[in-house]
Amino acid sequence: MYYPDELVEEIREKNDIVSVVGEYVKLTRKGGSYFGLCPFHNEKTGSFSVSPQKQMYYCFGCHKGGNVFSFLMDYENYTFPEAVKVLGERVGVDLPEIEYSESAKQQKDEKTKMLEMYKHAATFYYRMLRTSHGQIGYQYLRKRELTDETIKRFGLGYSTKFGKDLYNYLKKQGFSDQMMIDGGLVSYSEKAGTYDRFWNRVMFPIMDANHKVIGFGGRVMGEGEPKYLNSPETKIFDKSRNLYGLNFARASRKDNMIICEGYMDVIALHQAGFTQAVASLGTALTENQCRLIARYTKKVLLTYDSDAAGTNAALRAIPMLKEAGLSVSVINMKPYKDPDEFIKALGAEAFEERINQAVNSFLFEIEVIERRYDFKDPESKTAFFKATAKKLLEFTEEIERNTYVEAVADRYHLPYEKLKKMVDTMGEAASSMPVREKPRSGIQKKQKEDGITKAQKLLITWMISDDRLFDEISKHVELRDFTNELYRTVVEMLYQQKAQGKLKPAEIMSHFTDSENQGEVASLFHTELKQIEKKEELEKAVTETIIKVKEHSYNVQIDEMDKNDMIAWQKILQEKSKLQRLHISL
Ligand code: UTP
Ligand code: MN
Repeated sequence: MYYPDELVEEIREKNDIVSVVGEYVKLTRKGGSYFGLCPFHNEKTGSFSVSPQKQMYYCFGCHKGGNVFSFLMDYENYTFPEAVKVLGERVGVDLPEIEYSESAKQQKDEKTKMLEMYKHAATFYYRMLRTSHGQIGYQYLRKRELTDETIKRFGLGYSTKFGKDLYNYLKKQGFSDQMMIDGGLVSYSEKAGTYDRFWNRVMFPIMDANHKVIGFGGRVMGEGEPKYLNSPETKIFDKSRNLYGLNFARASRKDNMIICEGYMDVIALHQAGFTQAVASLGTALTENQCRLIARYTKKVLLTYDSDAAGTNAALRAIPMLKEAGLSVSVINMKPYKDPDEFIKALGAEAFEERINQAVNSFLFEIEVIERRYDFKDPESKTAFFKATAKKLLEFTEEIERNTYVEAVADRYHLPYEKLKKMVDTMGEAASSMPVREKPRSGIQKKQKEDGITKAQKLLITWMISDDRLFDEISKHVELRDFTNELYRTVVEMLYQQKAQGKLKPAEIMSHFTDSENQGEVASLFHTELKQIEKKEELEKAVTETIIKVKEHSYNVQIDEMDKNDMIAWQKILQEKSKLQRLHISL
């Protein structure tokens, strides 16, 4: 932590979580808490809760949770210091300038440092493009009709042919070999030593939604494999959660987003005024990316390449985008391959026309199906209508479904009533079949907790929820009994806070800056306890849990102790045997 704890705490207390989260999520009051649709996973019922008392949020669906800082870190992709700064400004608390002394520099967490390294790398490549060595790259971009302004806006650069230039530059800036290797900018082999990952390529910095460089795509000059080389995934670069061009597209103020396949397509579209264009990062579109898009718009237009691969990519993307609640249309670019080529040949106005003519994704899917059938063959034609009727059943709303039945009937010259009847009959047959259960998504699969961890967690939850339980449990359980390191840290803070008179869960959150830990700690504060009505039953449960936790702790101590120290060994065994007589009374 680079800001003083007290200051961080002051900023946290002044930023009420309900109002901060409320700026991003529509919240409704329910009892003592607020609920809304979780911004971190796709859902139709609100499992996302915000508690004004605890000053924390927690999603019962995807188990993400935390305080105001972690919310902004997750939502805006901020680092912890950035979240503190933004929230400090929000409530008018002045922050001291961070001083980067040599030792402070080392303390900076790796993520912040890696971002810094990528920023330096981007600046380096950008400068190289303007040198004589970079002429080949610069001329290439100009030949592809990019203006100087566009090159600057997207921060395009060039990696030289020499294979060590970036390495030497970053070394001079004080970055370690390990950091460069971890960041995927430099490779190492015994034979060649350290050498740049990218060379003789035009460099496309990949930025997150806040314009921070988190990766690169590099296009080879001339022929060569691979055509585009990308940064690997790192601490700062998650390919499934970012989109190329999103930093500009999110502020484009258009009512849609255009999804295309390549970096050059995004740039060409932006240059032509379509600043709502984004692309995935050398991989197929992911569920996370669909949800990310759904944060900014309700409507997407696909402009995938008009070849078989592009069509397949579109067919794969459509259901995922719809699942994220987006309406999807497909732009036809024929006879050109991609938006870049289209705009170069026909210009922005022609592309705008294609946007207006974009077909609803359903009709696009039908068009693709149609190609598999031969209409001259009556049997094949019937098969096509069956396939179409089945597809129409995907519309669960009757009115919407009928609209499309009409559209299809119209297009393929089939009597509306006949098609509708076919759809209805199929629907009835389908509804009498057992409903297929939807596969649960990875996020929902709760991590398996082993028994001991569970018991430790349960103790903490009891301690937080009830003062009497806190007193009783803390009488018997020591800090070191929490063998789970994360829990131990939490309990240590709980003890400290209690000694000062008041539990403040949200303050504890500030000490955990990585998202996995944040979720885990937040769940401690939001685990719903089974209500144990009878006093004796509760006493029994608490007693048994304490015994379980302490027994394990003693075992760990025995494992770790000096086996020659007989006295210490005996003492532990004695303590352990006394455990059986433990009884908690409330
Ligand atoms: P394309 O090969 O369709 O890109 O790949 P493009 O934009 O038309 O390429 P130019 O016009 O010849 O420069 C589309 C996207 O797929 C990823 C990149 O993200 C690229 O922008 N890709 C492609 C790779 O990651 N690696 C490759 O080798 C090729
Ligand atoms: Mn292209």
